[in-house]
Order: sequence, then C-alpha cells, then structure tokens
Amino acid sequence: MAPVGIVGLGAYVPPKVMTNDDWAEIVDTSDEWITAKTGIKERRIATDDDCTSDLAVIACEQAMEEAGIGPGDVDMLILATSSPDVPLSSTAGITQHKLGCHKASAFDINAVCAGWVHALDVGARFAGTTGYNNVLVVGSEVYSRILNWGDRTTCVLFGDGAGAAVLQEVGESRGLLGSWMMSDGGGAGVIEIPAGGVRTPIPSEGFDEGDQYFHMDGRAVWRFAIEAFPQSVRGVLERVGRNLSEVDLVIPHQANLRIIEAGMADLGLPMEKAFTNLQKYGNTAGASVPIALCEAHDEGLVKPGDLVVTAAFGGGLAWGANAMIW
Ligand code: ACO
Repeated sequence: MAPVGIVGLGAYVPPKVMTNDDWAEIVDTSDEWITAKTGIKERRIATDDDCTSDLAVIACEQAMEEAGIGPGDVDMLILATSSPDVPLSSTAGITQHKLGCHKASAFDINAVCAGWVHALDVGARFAGTTGYNNVLVVGSEVYSRILNWGDRTTCVLFGDGAGAAVLQEVGESRGLLGSWMMSDGGGAGVIEIPAGGVRTPIPSEGFDEGDQYFHMDGRAVWRFAIEAFPQSVRGVLERVGRNLSEVDLVIPHQANLRIIEAGMADLGLPMEKAFTNLQKYGNTAGASVPIALCEAHDEGLVKPGDLVVTAAFGGGLAWGANAMIW
C-alpha cells in the first residue's frame, strides 16, 4: 500500500470555559481535589444549540483548509464519537451533509476514548486506494450532555470539543507506519451509559437514578489505563519495528495527567515527550487525541521527520495507538 499521512489538521473547542471552581458551586468538589487527582483546571462546554456534528464541522473545515481541499474533494468521512447527535442516523452522515461533502461515504466509529485512533487506522487503509483520495477522520464529543451533572465522580472530568485530520497518499519518507488496537468487551460495564439502547430502552425504570447518563468505575478504569496506555505504545512500536528511544513525541489520550505520568514512567520516557492540554480542556473522549495533535502541531512541537505516537484508552474497553513519521 502507498504511504498515507495527515496533510491537514483542525480542532475546535466551544468558547464557554467552565473552571474547577465553577464545578465546586454545583457539586461537592474543589479545585484542589480535581487538580491533585487529574491535573484538570478547566474544560469547555458547548451551547445548548450545539450538537456533536456542529463541533465536528468546524474542526473538519479547518483540516480541509490546511489540506487545501474543498468539501467536494472528500471521498470518505469517518467520525469517532460516543456522544452522537442521535442514536440513529450516524453523526458522520449529519456532519457530511452540513459540510457539503456530497460524494463522501460517511460512518461513525464508537470505540469511546480510543475512537479516533481506531478511525485513523481505518481511514488510512482506504486513503490512496481507488476512489478514496481524501479521507476525513474526525473525533467529536459533547460529553456535557451525556454526563450526570449531579455525579461528582464523573462530571468534573470531561469537556466538549472536536479534532479532525485529512488523510492522503504522501511521499515514501513519511506517513502512518501502522497501528495497534485491542478490545476487552468483558469490561464494557466499567464505563457505560446503562439505558438508552435496546437492552434498557428509555423511558426505563432507572431513569430517575440517572441510568441515561454516563457511569464509570473510576478505580477500575485507572487500573486498566495505567497498563493500557504503555501497552499500546509498546504494541505499535513493535509492530512497525521501531524503538522507544526513537520516539520524538507521544500524543496520549487526555484523560488524566496522573495516568499519563504513570504511563510515561513505565515506558521510561520523560514527560517532555508527552504533549498534554487536558489542563485546559479536560477529557474530551474521542476528540482528545486529534485536538492535542493539532495543538502540538500548531505550537511547532511536531516537526518533519519526527516519529509521533498517538495512544488512547477508554470505554469498551478499547485501547490502541498509531505510529507515524511526520
Ligand atoms: N471531588 C471531591 N471528591 C471526590 C470527587 C470529586 N469530584 N470524586 C470523587 N470524590 C471522592 C470519592 O467520593 C471518595 O471519597 P470517600 O473516600 O469518602 O469515599 C474519594 O474522593 C476517593 O474517590 P476515588 O474514586 O477512590 O478516587 P481516585 O483516587 O480513584 O480518583 C479518578 C478518581 C480521578 C476518577 C481516578 O480513579 C481516575 O482517573 N480514573 C480513571 C478515569 C479515566 O481515565 N477515564 C478515562 C476513560 S473515560 C472514557 O473512556 C469515556
């Protein structure tokens, strides 16, 4: 297969900032607790009118502009989300329509926080093949609308946002080297929205208890994440025949600074090699890696020839990583 790489990036977070102190006025929490446990200081919240597709559109438009392509040039649009506009139809299709990408096929991927790294792998397998010159891969989430605003164990952790990349065939010396993915559906209940699917349709008996909202066993996820993150990085490097010492930059899922610190220590890599922006945005789930990659690139931290590893972990359980030469 011809080498495929990212030729345009975009990211969007809503302007409304919600600080830890703002949360402390709503639930029994504090800036000290949230900062000490997670490193998060603030996050962005979408307006009531904004859907996941609206955030995706803005990130996609930026990525297309950077790639020098228009909506009519997009052949495929893959959207990673676990907070879709509606359960059915796909948010990818809604986004495709809003963008005017009329010739693109469009579909969603739900691997929760690891959604975009999965979408990048799928997109890269199409890009450059017959009929698929440009593939748009976007992660977009409006978690503020699926969270229980009365549950302090989850509501303070997340934020809203979107990140996008355009994939194209590129020169031999750069592009995606490969990906490594893993799932364990036995852990599906560790992070879930219990109601709203066909198992427990809404309205359900658990409606008053908030079963329609996001639930997470934080401790179980912690134990999973501190292993899944370094395992993903090692897994992809082994698959593409590279060493940890060759890695220039890791773009980890922005769930928790303590998880990133533990993972980088496990890998024997300094924290300077991990890009973080969760302090400003919290955990934007499937959008966190492309937002972070876009911001790292904008800050000049991703340079031509660099070996960049993007790694994510979360609900599913699902985890994985991509390795690319920039
Ligand atoms: N403010 C103040 N106190 C709180 C808060 C809060 N926001 N949330 C929980 N507490 C309390 C608990 O009630 C508990 O009190 P208790 O001891 O009186 O019972 C105490 O703090 C400790 O709670 P724990 O849940 O044991 O805290 P822990 O040290 O495990 O930290 C955290 C919680 C930050 C959520 C951690 O477990 C974590 O980061 N887990 C991983 C989460 C994650 O990374 N998720 C990403 C995937 S999500 C996805 O895929 C969409």
